[in-house]
Amino acid sequence: MSLLIRNARIVTVQGPGLASGDLLVEGERITGIGEQLQAPETVDREIDAAGRVLMPAFADCHTHACFAGDRLDEWDLKRRGATYLEILESGGGIMSTVRAVRAATPKQLADGVQARLEIMLREGTTTVEVKSGYGLSTEHELKMLRAIADAGSGWAGTVVPTALLGHAIDPEIPDFFEHTISATLDAVHTEFPGIAIDVFCEKGAWPVEESVRLLRRARELGHPVRAHVDQFNSLGMVKEAIELGARSVDHLEASGDEELRLIAGVDAREEQRVRRAELDCTRGGTGVGTIGVGLPMCGLHVDGRYANLRRLIDLGGRAAIATNFNPGSAPSSSMPLAIGLAVRHCGLTPEEAIEAGTSHAAAVLNLPDRGALSPGMRADLVLLRHTDPRMLAYEIGGDPVDAVVCAGRLIRGG
Ligand code: NIG
Repeated sequence: MSLLIRNARIVTVQGPGLASGDLLVEGERITGIGEQLQAPETVDREIDAAGRVLMPAFADCHTHACFAGDRLDEWDLKRRGATYLEILESGGGIMSTVRAVRAATPKQLADGVQARLEIMLREGTTTVEVKSGYGLSTEHELKMLRAIADAGSGWAGTVVPTALLGHAIDPEIPDFFEHTISATLDAVHTEFPGIAIDVFCEKGAWPVEESVRLLRRARELGHPVRAHVDQFNSLGMVKEAIELGARSVDHLEASGDEELRLIAGVDAREEQRVRRAELDCTRGGTGVGTIGVGLPMCGLHVDGRYANLRRLIDLGGRAAIATNFNPGSAPSSSMPLAIGLAVRHCGLTPEEAIEAGTSHAAAVLNLPDRGALSPGMRADLVLLRHTDPRMLAYEIGGDPVDAVVCAGRLIRGG
C-alpha cells in the first residue's frame, strides 16, 4: 500500500517543518517528505491536505485504561469536598476500582480496553501505554496484564503494557509489600520479561522505602522502571527514581525546584550524567535520562494543581505529557485536551506541547521509530482540521482530527 499526502503544513520536531509539503508512505513507513516531492507515478491513495496540518500521531505514555466500573458515586463525594487521598484512605478511590476489576472476567476487561483503544485511535492516538495496578494480588495483576496484551494484539496501533505493581495497599493480603516485591514481581517477570515496572509513591499508597525496594529488585531482574512521584506530596522519590535510572517520573504536581533540577540533571557532574545515560541504556532505558511526565488532566479533574513543566524545560530537562486516562483522577483519553491543558497550565508553548505528546512520549516508551516525520519512521500520522498547529492547543473540546494513519493504513478520514 502507498499513500501520498500533498499540500500539507508539515509539523515535526525533526527539522524545521514545511509550510507546504508532501509526504509519501509505502508499507508501514514514511519514505519521502519534501516540497513538491517526486512521487511514484501511481500510488494507491492520494490526499490533498489543502494546507491542513500533518503531524505525528499522538503517543499516550501514561494511562490506566484497563479498568472496570466507574467512580461516579465518589465524584459526588468529591464535589461535596472530599479529597482524593481522603477517599483512598476510607477504602474507596483506587480500591473501589480494584474491587470492580477483581470481579470482572478476563474477557470483560479485555473488551473494555479494546473499546477504549478504538476511541483513542479515532482521536489520533496510535501508541498507548496501559498500566495494570487495579489487581494488587498476583492473580489479578496477571489477569490485567493478559487482558491488556489481548486487547493490544487485535488493535491497529501499538499497546505498551506496564506492570504497576505498587499502586495501593491491600490490607487483606498478609505482608503485602513483601508479597508484591517477591511473589507478584517474580510471576510478572516470568510471564512478561522486560515489561516496565511502576509504583505510586504517595502518602496512603506506597512509601519511599518500599517503592525503592520494588524498583531496585525490578532493575536487578532487568526491567525498566517508572514511578508516580510528587502527585500530592513530595516525599523524596524523585531522587531515588533517578538514581535507579527510571525512564520517567510522572505527575510532579508537588515538585519544587529541587526535584525539577534533579530531573533536569542540572547539578549532576558531567561524569555522573554520562553514567546515568549509560546505566539507562544498558538496562532497557531510553539513553536520554529520566523524562518528566506531566498529567494535566489531573489538575483539571482533581484539584487545579499542575506540574511546572516550563521550569523543567528551562532547566534543560525533557518533558512529556499524557492523558493518565483512568476512572478516578483523569476520565478522558483526549491527547488534544491534554496538550491544551499543558499549554494553559504547565507553561508549555503549543510547539513544546506537541513535542511532549509525540516524540518525547515515544521516548518514554523507548519507541524511537515514531513521534517525528522523516523517512524511515513508522507512518503514524494525523491530519488536523486546522491549518495552524496552535489551534490544536487553542480549541477546547472539539474534534481537531480529520484523518488518522496508523502503520501506513488510513484508519479514519481522507
Ligand atoms: O496516576 N495516582 C495514582 N494513579 C492514578 C489514579 C488512579 C485512580 O484513581 O484510579 C493517577 O492519577
